[in-house]
Amino acid sequence: SEIDWSPDAAEKGGFEHYMTKEIFEQPETIRNTTRGRLDAERGTSILSGLNLSPRELVDIQRLLIVGCGTSMNAGLIGEYAIEDFAGIPAEVEQAAEFRYRNPIVGSRDLVLAISQSGETADTLAAVREAVEKGSLVAGLVNVVGSTIARETGRGIYLHAGPEISVASTKAFTSQVSVLLMIALKLARGRRLSQARGIEIVQEIKRIPELIEWVLETNDKIAEVAQHYTNYQNMFYIGRGYMYPVAMEGALKIKEISYIHAEGYNAAELKHGPIALLDENMPVIALANKGAGQDKTLSNVEECKARSAPVLGVVTAGDKESADIFDHVIEIPDCPQYTSVIPAAVALQLFSYHVARLRGCSIDQPRNLAKSVTVE
Ligand code: G6P
Repeated sequence: SEIDWSPDAAEKGGFEHYMTKEIFEQPETIRNTTRGRLDAERGTSILSGLNLSPRELVDIQRLLIVGCGTSMNAGLIGEYAIEDFAGIPAEVEQAAEFRYRNPIVGSRDLVLAISQSGETADTLAAVREAVEKGSLVAGLVNVVGSTIARETGRGIYLHAGPEISVASTKAFTSQVSVLLMIALKLARGRRLSQARGIEIVQEIKRIPELIEWVLETNDKIAEVAQHYTNYQNMFYIGRGYMYPVAMEGALKIKEISYIHAEGYNAAELKHGPIALLDENMPVIALANKGAGQDKTLSNVEECKARSAPVLGVVTAGDKESADIFDHVIEIPDCPQYTSVIPAAVALQLFSYHVARLRGCSIDQPRNLAKSVTVE
């Protein structure tokens, strides 16, 4: 008789693919990312790898975040959080754009280079350019001892463990968690009170539970995915913190299901893309509670009026919003700055199921490499 055990199956921890294994690891990987880095009494984070004193942190006048792919999308969430919490201007730049356009950076700018592998050629070159121009450069890297980690000399390891699936999942949520901790640290050195800091620490500590909540709805997400396997195009829309989540949701479905998808700011939809909407163009809307929700919902009404199928990512229990959609995926109630994580996890699962139902090669999508070390 055949033995259905293989070293390969054991490596995947009982999951059919590395991608699902890694999606389901996220409560644990976030615990590892945040362990020892949150100070609940002083309402701040402890990021010793940055090697910057409170005095030096206060002197930082701008954050520049560089990366590629999923790491760049995490950076976009970081931009919102850093400006929101700390009131410091932050910008995200695709690493290749940064490296070639003679960027304006100086000694009071902190450049954050985000990379799962720590080996991406364009991100590494951006690091070298920023070092050359005399700015502070820190790495947000998963692979210990990787080139970017070594060349930045300061930074924060993600501690997400090895990520095998080409499509990045757990590295993304760890990157976002680190960026929230950086935003908190920068904010506490400025106008954010200890009391507010303590609240934010508590919310960050809840992230693993928020993810667990979503993982428990996996069967429901699989069921919803069945309705979205036969389309060739999709729009993902969101506002504010949810805009980068829309970008990452669209990237994930492109990578593994080969459905063309675009992440759009919900407000921008009417400036062109709305011309494409009809019954063959589903819109996935990040419409959970928070600033801009009402506006996103009215954008969804505009999509429905053009016969587009609409799938909403909504806050659990928000019946009124849920009623607008053809299908919904729920996420637990939490502030918008942490809701990005359960929302991203929900969209990871959605992409996974769509790709699985389409018979795609989940862990090794065509034309993609885990780490792009050439230009
Ligand atoms: C490749 C991978 C993406 C990844 C990007 C950046 O394109 O396929 O999943 O997001 O590189 O990789 P990094 O290791 O720098 O985060």
